[in-house]
Amino acid sequence: MPCDENPSVFLRTYWQDEIFLKQHMKCIMAMWVALALTIAARAMDPGTMPAVTDPLALKLSPADMKWWQDAKFGMFIHWGLYAIPAQGEWYMNDKKVPAAEYRKLMDQFNPQHYDPATWVNAARAAGMKYMVLTARHHDGFAMWDSPSSYDNFDAVHSAAKRDLIAPYVKAAREAGMRVGLYYSPMDWRFPGYFDPKGLPDNAALMKKQTWGQVEELMKNYGHIDILWYDGAWLAMKGTDADAGPFWESDKLAKMARSYQPKVVISPRSGWVGDFGTDEGGAAVTGPIKSGPWEKCLNLNETTWGYNTRQRLMSRDRALNMLVNVVVRGGNMLLNVGPDKDGVIPEAHVARLKEIGDWLTQYGESVYDTRPGPFQPVDGRYGATYRGKTIYVHVLGWGPAAAQSDTLVLPALKQKVRNVRVITSDGAVRFTQGEGEVTLQLPTEKHDALDTILALECETPVEP
Ligand code: GLC
Repeated sequence: MPCDENPSVFLRTYWQDEIFLKQHMKCIMAMWVALALTIAARAMDPGTMPAVTDPLALKLSPADMKWWQDAKFGMFIHWGLYAIPAQGEWYMNDKKVPAAEYRKLMDQFNPQHYDPATWVNAARAAGMKYMVLTARHHDGFAMWDSPSSYDNFDAVHSAAKRDLIAPYVKAAREAGMRVGLYYSPMDWRFPGYFDPKGLPDNAALMKKQTWGQVEELMKNYGHIDILWYDGAWLAMKGTDADAGPFWESDKLAKMARSYQPKVVISPRSGWVGDFGTDEGGAAVTGPIKSGPWEKCLNLNETTWGYNTRQRLMSRDRALNMLVNVVVRGGNMLLNVGPDKDGVIPEAHVARLKEIGDWLTQYGESVYDTRPGPFQPVDGRYGATYRGKTIYVHVLGWGPAAAQSDTLVLPALKQKVRNVRVITSDGAVRFTQGEGEVTLQLPTEKHDALDTILALECETPVEP
């Protein structure tokens, strides 16, 4: 029986006939494969998916977000074709490079020293617990083997001739590092991106690519911990959320979850997301923020993608930022931009190590903690806690003679049993009256960056 004969008649008549089955196994297999492919193709087509009636119900539970909130510190990696001109990841748009011209970079993209294990090592040395790599930025170049890529604009069609995402995922996994992929729904190569109303067909083509590529990333690389969308806004204006209906981002999140049920999703596809984001190097101030959130910023403070212009963040600025983030309940995602050969500049690796050395010594006051129990005071102190211990981070309480040796903290519900300083060998005197807790530490035992005091309480600390 040829494969194109009516399959329902064939199934009804012969399904129990063993000899027939043997003879026609190939046809049966082909039919099943065709059926499976049809189902798979449907999964990526937003038109065939039912509307998401409650987008909030798609959010991960607090239990599923626990690992992420415990992790505190991750590595962001912006890497793509833009590493070649070395002027940052917005090069194509900033310099108004036509798509056809920009595409030529693909023929030069042949990273000679791409070894993601070295990135993983740098992240580990920095005390980072997860990594997020740009699988595709706004320029549209896919760093993997992407059949959905419009016009084959992907790594296997570049001079690299290989998938660059798979080795990264593998290297991170092998080191026990949580794996994240960044993906930009928008793509500057499409005129429809800039004029979605005037050029709806072209915009629809871009959307189809996004759906196809998100599916590839969620389906083909094993377990993925983070899907970090960025850049859903349309026509270079408005917000990501404004563009949610265009991308059908609620459904997109649902589709991603169908492959990766526990993947932590950023809010920048238009769907509300599992965590909030705060982008850039501006100071973090104010009270503890509710819910999981993440500060992302750049180690080279010029651009996210590799740039020959360098303004390397100091160790103290990075750590001050990390502490200010963590005492307000956030995570910090610190970005590096490898060069065209896939190498993170040596000075950046060294800076990451300095940050990691501090965390090796004082990480107990950072990892696996929660913010509080009292609110931070901008530029002065903030606190984290775990179990019965409260860690008070006093910022800029240096050994200068002008500093007071006394710190008064707000009232605590718990009775404090003991206080120790973990950033020096000093002895802390403390009193706890009805209300405030008063701590005294000789100024020469203060630390200009962060004096960390551990308050051991008699009962577990609550927020
Ligand atoms: C912005 C930029 C982008 C960068 C990102 C990082 O949205 O468009 O270049 O990747 O921020 O958060």
